[in-house]
Amino acid sequence: MKAILTSFAAMLLLAASAANAAEPKGKAAAPVSAPAAVDSKGSVDLKRAEQIVSGRCFLCHGTEGESASPIFPRLAGQHPEYIAKQLADFQSGRRKGTMNDQAKELTEDEMRALGVFFGQKKPLAYTVREEDLAAVGRYIYHKGNLFSGVAACSSCHGPKGDGTIQLPRLAGQHAAYLEGQLKEFNKRERTNDNAVMHAIASKLTDLEAHAVSVYISGMK
Ligand code: HEC
Ligand code: HEC
Repeated sequence: MKAILTSFAAMLLLAASAANAAEPKGKAAAPVSAPAAVDSKGSVDLKRAEQIVSGRCFLCHGTEGESASPIFPRLAGQHPEYIAKQLADFQSGRRKGTMNDQAKELTEDEMRALGVFFGQKKPLAYTVREEDLAAVGRYIYHKGNLFSGVAACSSCHGPKGDGTIQLPRLAGQHAAYLEGQLKEFNKRERTNDNAVMHAIASKLTDLEAHAVSVYISGMK
């Protein structure tokens, strides 16, 4: 049964990326996550997720996963598995921050449901005003920096920034949040699974970190 559900989820993912490819340029990309109330482990209780979100998460992340302030990450269109994993890491204290208290009493099922709830929301597209910076950022994102050994972000996060089940979607994320996380990875203040990103962030100059964050925030 599990195997069937997994291959069903894989089919949905394929269908979603085919739909993405066919979309005209300039439109917000559809979330890559499964559209139904399921993640890779099966169905989830979306009503319960909505209750929790309208109880407290909305204060910072908005009811639609479009956060009110650029220091709070946007969750709309984020991968359900990534959201659930971060919540589990916040709960266990592996990742430290404001979220430790928020995740304290969530059950595993609730974390999965919250992941699907936000993953289903359509991410909005933003326009970047700082064009010169964004151009530097575009280069770093797609080509990296050969001189200092920075790998191209696109090699893992994808050319469209939509990530995978193991990797966060970055496209359209707030620049301030992204830049903050790059600093945290650099200083190892992001305490969970930071090995890969630490190696990358520690080689970025301040200008590159800022520019790539600005570019990513405008990716659709
Ligand atoms: C008081 C504001 C606040 C509330 C309420 C809040 N969050 Fe957060 N959330 C944050 C901040 C700030 C971060 C960035 C990481 C950090 O510093 O803890 C974050 C990060 C996250 C992340 C990680 C996103 C990423 O891209 O890595 C997830 C997932 C998340 N929150 C989900 C939730 C859920 C689900 C709820 C409700 C149960 C919630 N948050 C309630 C402020 C909040
Ligand atoms: C070798 C693969 C790889 C490359 C290349 C890579 N990343 Fe990552 N990135 C990861 C992984 C894995 C994570 C998830 C870490 C976790 O699970 O906590 C991540 C997480 C992130 C996050 C946190 C997102 C969030 O929602 O909190 C940011 C920001 C980020 N990467 C930016 C970048 C940028 C910018 C580049 C290019 C300069 C880059 N990454 C290159 C693998 C990579």
